[in-house]
Amino acid sequence: MATTTTKTGQPFDRDVLDSLLRRTGFYMPSFEIYGGEKGLFDYGPPLTALQSNFVDLWRKHFVLKEKMLEVDTTIITPEPVFVTSGHVAKFADFMSKDPKTGEIFRTDHLIKQVLGARLKADQDARGKTIEVEKPDEPQKKKKIKDVKIEKLDDAVAQEYNETLAKLDNYDGEGFKQLIEKFEIKGPTSGVDLDPPKPFNLMFQTYIGPSADKPNGYLRPETAQGQFLNFQKLLEFNKQKMPFASASIGKSFRNEISPRQGLLRVREFLMAEIEHYVDPEAGKKHDRFEDIKDTKLTLLNRHTQLAGSEKTEVMTIGEAVANKVVDNETLGYFIVRIQDFLLKLGIDPSKLRFRQHMANEMAHYAADCWDAELYGSYGWIECVGCADRSAYDLTVHMKKTGAPLVVRENLPEPRKFKEYQIELNKKKLGPKFRKDAKAVETAVEELSQDMREKLSLDLKDSGKITIDTPSIGNGKTELEKDLISIEQREVTQHVREYTPNVIEPSFGIGRILYHLLEHTFWTRQSAEATDEPSARNVLSIPPLIAPIKVLIVPLSNHADFKPFLRQLTSTLDDLDIANSIDDSSASIGKRYSRNDELGTPFGITIDFQTVKDKTITLRERDSTKQVRASQEDICHTIEALVRGRETWEQVSKRLPEFTSQEVD
Ligand code: ATP
Ligand code: GLY
Repeated sequence: MATTTTKTGQPFDRDVLDSLLRRTGFYMPSFEIYGGEKGLFDYGPPLTALQSNFVDLWRKHFVLKEKMLEVDTTIITPEPVFVTSGHVAKFADFMSKDPKTGEIFRTDHLIKQVLGARLKADQDARGKTIEVEKPDEPQKKKKIKDVKIEKLDDAVAQEYNETLAKLDNYDGEGFKQLIEKFEIKGPTSGVDLDPPKPFNLMFQTYIGPSADKPNGYLRPETAQGQFLNFQKLLEFNKQKMPFASASIGKSFRNEISPRQGLLRVREFLMAEIEHYVDPEAGKKHDRFEDIKDTKLTLLNRHTQLAGSEKTEVMTIGEAVANKVVDNETLGYFIVRIQDFLLKLGIDPSKLRFRQHMANEMAHYAADCWDAELYGSYGWIECVGCADRSAYDLTVHMKKTGAPLVVRENLPEPRKFKEYQIELNKKKLGPKFRKDAKAVETAVEELSQDMREKLSLDLKDSGKITIDTPSIGNGKTELEKDLISIEQREVTQHVREYTPNVIEPSFGIGRILYHLLEHTFWTRQSAEATDEPSARNVLSIPPLIAPIKVLIVPLSNHADFKPFLRQLTSTLDDLDIANSIDDSSASIGKRYSRNDELGTPFGITIDFQTVKDKTITLRERDSTKQVRASQEDICHTIEALVRGRETWEQVSKRLPEFTSQEVD
């Protein structure tokens, strides 16, 4: 477990938070009464409410503010879509099997864990037994056999650290060499592992009753559904560029070894943006000027390749000017992601942006920065921000012929020369028969430079040879009776291009889990009750807290009932989520229970309320209270929840109330 502290500087204890979250029903293993299923969790009422407040804030921060076009596309996807997108061939992680025990490990995670454990042994546990998590059952600790207890050579320790810093950059062969070099064995058996093998992460399915083999997939990202609708979205946007689409929905990944609770699951909610931009305009962004002075903590790929994790703080203006971040649009979204995470309540000292190394990037990406959050599992990617270039639109257009392009009327017609090709199709068909179409496609794809060269070959020798990988020996000869290549002057009135895509991709569960870690702390004050679990607090910001106000009557006295009814209905009318706790527990205990649920405010109804219609308002983090009329308190809560007023301002404006909060 990585070392981390709470906001009050106490060591963070994951077991305490985990037991709080399970006890209070934030989440639970799915199908628990059937024994549960790895990597699948159900969210209970507090986490469901927190998630829906997250989604609401995300929509306001991105979709509404940036005027994005939100779509809701299907999860079940026919196979050809993911063959074309490259996911069938490449959306895979490497796995290593222990031939003796049959255990399967995600290769990069196993290497990370073993080298990490050896380094830890080197640092602080010489002579002791090292325990590491068993990958597929993190709750069970397993002794790892091959941890070398003796002190590592300095050079070896440095090599381990450097390897860990660039681990994401290795492929299957690279992992194999690391396993051999560092003598990594099956953690429980101590025998050699089978060589790493790629494992595709998509779930296959059968669409319809007549499929005799799987013919579809559950999507692993929402992105493809957005790309396939590009033409309609551009039309909806009245052909105006740039613009973005957005989608929130479930994605599915058959993770090799789901672990770390909500962080690596097989079904999860994603929120993704596809921002389409003209590549010729240098991927500039209209509002970059507004955000250019925002500071970010960055870990670039060169630093990682040099074996270090040293971050640098710089403004996004500097980062783009120095080409650390490739372009303004990518930079703009990195800043907007940071703004969002901070608004949510993420601790800024536990946020960094890490650039992907070349081999680490997904098959479609040209550059990628992950927002990583720090917690008890170390630094974890929670938002990916990739420049997918024109990859996806190009492959789908090529496969389907659908014009996934932008056509722009030019202000002035453009004149230029180009090499044009004419094929004699009457002769081509009979000569090449079933291969004629492939020859035609290969010819159409010839670049201008190649066309120029081939036009000279044709003049000189009366024939040309082109590459046709799918036919015979991969080369095809064409005589001049079949093809002509001429340079001609062209006047262009319309420019046609395939937009590039910048994609911020949010995994909601991972962010919510980190928010819970970042906001969790244990109160040491006199208010703490004697129940050990009752002193824990989740300081979730009012903006997204599941319930905003707890209403507590001093007792079950009938005189309090009308006030309860009136208050809850006023708060309901103001759209402020509230709950009532009229149980017999002491007020202090009732408040403590709600501190654990992250409820930021509490109202008490007491005998003075009956006399003068005033109520008290308590703030969760300080436990301070003020007293005022019902109307005043309800409007104060509204201002606090909508972010128009802070508690500091409220406590100066309204009289403090000091008694009443006792066990
Ligand atoms: P990792 O390397 O951790 O497997 P990834 O690089 O595959 O993650 P992306 O493909 O970039 O992740 O996915 C985009 C976002 O979706 C991630 O930033 C993360 O928040 C979320 N995500 C990905 N896989 C999972 C998962 N198995 N469980 C929960 N969230 C996930
Ligand atoms: N759509 C981005 C991802 O799934 O990684």
